[in-house]
Amino acid sequence: MSERLNLMSPAMLADPYPTYAELRRDAPVCQVDPGGFWAVTRHDDVIAVLKDTALFSSEGFRAATKPAWLGHNPFGDSMLVLDPPAHGRLRSLVNRAFTPAAMTRLEARVRAFAEDIAARLPLGQPVDWVESLAMPLPASVIGELLGLDPSLHARFKRWTDDLTSISPVTPDMTARMEEIRTTVREAEQYLTEVLASRRRAPADDMVTDLLRAQVDGQSLTDAELMSFLFLLLVGGLETTVHLLNHSALQLIAHPEVLDRLRADPALIPRFIDEVLRYEPPVRSVYRLVMADTEIGGVRLTKGAKVLAMIGSACRDEAHFPDAHRFDIDRGGVTHLPFGHGIHFCLGAPLARLEARLLFTALVPRVRRLSPAGPPEWRRALSMRGVTSLPLVAHPA
Ligand code: HEM
Repeated sequence: MSERLNLMSPAMLADPYPTYAELRRDAPVCQVDPGGFWAVTRHDDVIAVLKDTALFSSEGFRAATKPAWLGHNPFGDSMLVLDPPAHGRLRSLVNRAFTPAAMTRLEARVRAFAEDIAARLPLGQPVDWVESLAMPLPASVIGELLGLDPSLHARFKRWTDDLTSISPVTPDMTARMEEIRTTVREAEQYLTEVLASRRRAPADDMVTDLLRAQVDGQSLTDAELMSFLFLLLVGGLETTVHLLNHSALQLIAHPEVLDRLRADPALIPRFIDEVLRYEPPVRSVYRLVMADTEIGGVRLTKGAKVLAMIGSACRDEAHFPDAHRFDIDRGGVTHLPFGHGIHFCLGAPLARLEARLLFTALVPRVRRLSPAGPPEWRRALSMRGVTSLPLVAHPA
């Protein structure tokens, strides 16, 4: 491949997988556009990058989420961008909000949301799956976690869309820059009020838990709390929306899988794990090279920007036999869609829970999903998913 590959080209957004396969074979570490990142595409190299926090720093996220034109952005200061030891301190403070006991407490609420949303899905007529189903569940759950007003769900979506569209902004896109700056201000203002109200009146929610959390006598600072709330909004919402969208796309492509899930709902978790492997919602994560090094036979110099391509790693034939086949019987779950090492996703059990309960509620009602128009692919470097998905859900 002589010309630099553009990860945001329409073809790469619609179906990057054949190109990922070529890269793994011929150029497993190569420079790509936009941004001149070094894309690392083989499974074992991606794991090596994510494991070695001294050589491959998460500061890479800061550069991608806090460019000079944006300046202030709490998301770009969150634990996602920190390395040890600062990362460990924050992680142990927020960990307790995600324990198995906390998830069990949440389960009944998530089930109630899932059943309500599934029951309201119009059957036998074209709907946008994103609007009707994939967005409302994670928005309700994040709203519940943070104790936010449900009437703001539409606004969350705009906030997270904007906060995950920072790196593709080019110097000529001044109007877009202003929109994103406005979003940061608006989200911060809203979340500041949420923090103040929980301080005045503690509630049974995650914000209150976070305000109370202490490790070695230390609590989270206001700036750390704000960054974490931004991270939850971005990390917890769009990722899960994409998981639910990819699930629908796979059920459209494999109607026989929907039949099997209806006959045996115990297969739903396996289905979800295979959707995560086949179409990881987080297709790449950013890292910054801290010292000259070599990976995949390529020398990278200090300061090089790396994209660890989870989307490619999950289709690596060297690791997953017949990797391009969607197969819920494959066995052996990979957790790589949720990252690897110290930044492994805190919300993985919650995301799996949401998807499992949603499909448990939906599968008995729906015989088949069929497309009602082309999906629209999201323009983002780190995420892979659709922004609209017209389909018909045929009643069982
Ligand atoms: C299908 C849904 C999800 C996917 C695919 C996903 C994926 C990921 C990945 C790949 C990372 C690691 C990033 C890195 O190494 O730089 C991560 C981190 C994180 N995720 Fe998720 N995530 C999902 C859902 C959630 C949910 C529902 C929440 C919370 C409500 C959440 C909260 C977080 C947090 C707080 C981190 C940062 C952990 C750290 O820096 O130590 N995620 N996620």
